[in-house]
Amino acid sequence: MCGIVGYVGDKKSLEVLVGGLRRLEYRGYDSAGVAVIDDHGELGVAKKSGKLVKLTDELAAHPIGDGRAGIGHTRWATHGGPTDVNAHPHLGDDGKLALIHNGIIENFSELKAELLAEGYSFTSETDTEVAAALLGREYRATGDLRAAFQSTVGRLDGAFTLLALHSDEPNLVVGARRNSPLVIGIGDGENFLGSDVAAFVQYTRTAMAVGQDQIVAITPESVTVTDFAGAPVEMETFQVEWDAAAADKGGWSSFMAKEVAEQPDAVANTLRGRIVGDAVVVPELTAFGDEVLAGIRRIVIIACGTAAYAGMTAQYAIEKWARVPVTIELSHEFRYREPVITDDTLVISISQSGETMDTLMAVKYAREAGARVISICNTQGATIPRESDAVVYTHAGPEVAVASTKAFVAQITALYLFGLHLARVRGTLSAAEQAVQVAELIAVPAKIATVLESSASIAQLAHWMADTRSVLFLGRNVGFPIAMEGALKLKELAYIHAEGFAAGELKHGPIALIEPGQPVFVVVPSPRGSASLHPKVVSNIQEIRARGARVIAIAEQGDAAVLPFADEVVHIPLAAPLFEPLLAVIPLQIFAMELSIAKGLDVDQPRNLAKSVTVE
Ligand code: F6R
Repeated sequence: MCGIVGYVGDKKSLEVLVGGLRRLEYRGYDSAGVAVIDDHGELGVAKKSGKLVKLTDELAAHPIGDGRAGIGHTRWATHGGPTDVNAHPHLGDDGKLALIHNGIIENFSELKAELLAEGYSFTSETDTEVAAALLGREYRATGDLRAAFQSTVGRLDGAFTLLALHSDEPNLVVGARRNSPLVIGIGDGENFLGSDVAAFVQYTRTAMAVGQDQIVAITPESVTVTDFAGAPVEMETFQVEWDAAAADKGGWSSFMAKEVAEQPDAVANTLRGRIVGDAVVVPELTAFGDEVLAGIRRIVIIACGTAAYAGMTAQYAIEKWARVPVTIELSHEFRYREPVITDDTLVISISQSGETMDTLMAVKYAREAGARVISICNTQGATIPRESDAVVYTHAGPEVAVASTKAFVAQITALYLFGLHLARVRGTLSAAEQAVQVAELIAVPAKIATVLESSASIAQLAHWMADTRSVLFLGRNVGFPIAMEGALKLKELAYIHAEGFAAGELKHGPIALIEPGQPVFVVVPSPRGSASLHPKVVSNIQEIRARGARVIAIAEQGDAAVLPFADEVVHIPLAAPLFEPLLAVIPLQIFAMELSIAKGLDVDQPRNLAKSVTVE
């Protein structure tokens, strides 16, 4: 949500800012704006509701001066609708300073009342304009942007990343963050700020992550970071693992199509360096402490949306391999029900972006309650890893499409690595059993590549079903979270009512939904599974078929039992039952993507959604 970019240096700022905003588009937004100090020290501002092209059209129609310093913003509306007036930047000090903001300033009403009483007036409905006015007032008092910014952020409650510049100090951009992301890009004679590294990776891959309650000031030659009280902060740089090309579509019709195709690599890259011989040894977990892992009595996984379904999938494997009870909680539910957390509870957070506010708050809550927290994350420099005791990065590469695909399979992979590492440390899996699981893991990328070969037939199916109004998904055991993930993908991409159920639950209610023609996807467990769920799911298929359902089965290659009852069968390669989800989810992702295309929708940026949900 909200993309932020800041620049000081020799380049023309507008190009850097608009390019950065383009790379941040995936975060989700409904308006965009820039402010630039031109070579004569004049502040120019342009902002427009709608997509970035509206802003570039506006800049073409009404050019503003270009120069060495600027800030840019894509807004996802919270306070006030997505209008031109509410778009950022907002101005202060009689139009000499501009400010942009990501987050929610919770005490903005009190601050606004204070400023109104002093004679200030406001044109927008935003909390941001209040912060801009406050900063203007402080600037007049101090004549120093750094000092004014410091006293302004000290007055704000809530979540915010703020960037500001002032035409009297044309080579300076200041920024601050609390509960909202901000990273610094270190250049040569130029420096950058961004919501994430995508904002500037085209220019530099050397970055620093601004910590909680810290202020940064960048000039072309310097980067200074302090805490909110003004005390200097030691910073560490990191190198961004991917380059600008990785964040481009690279000839694919959409980012989602590219990311679906990248799934074999996402899994292979997540496995890399974490398998030693026939065993899993995750270096980050070794550093965390084998003795700590050995003493864990309970695991609680916290995540939202697709990440939570990855957690639900891995629950089966972790419990089976490491014999530790595992529960899954949606992050936003977790901390509001006073969960029982003890110091032998391990909390695992899962987040692609590493910025999801609900998950971040749950992580903080868990740590304050005494739990140790390990995070599974795909984004370097993000906030959640820094708030955790340890992090196991997924190496899926940048995920730009709003709907998560390759991050999901990478998350399951990382969690399986965790489960096998834990099982080894706890001695719950023999070396031979560990070797069997490792062989299964290593085989996953090639098997996903095989599933991707069925893309054309799944696309055809989706195009036939373009008028469908409701789709149900059934699964059992590890197929259950996959059914829910399939339904989520369809809801968000094709705006179709979709629900995922545990197949065993069918007769307890959902079967009443079945009427002639109702499409139902069924994730069929392997007939070779030890619990022998296969015949039960085949019976479920017969039950819904008898009531007129149109059945699309995702079944293992060679599974002849489903053929007489399914209208369509999508085959997946043979895999041990716990590894089937990594294959079965692929056709469901492709189906949702293709149905979205068939309906003429925006696959990469579905309506109302943001990639990075940075508000609660
Ligand atoms: C669905 C989707 C979301 C995210 C959820 C958590 O396709 O992408 O459900 O999985 O918002 O996001 P992260 O993983 O960034 O915490």
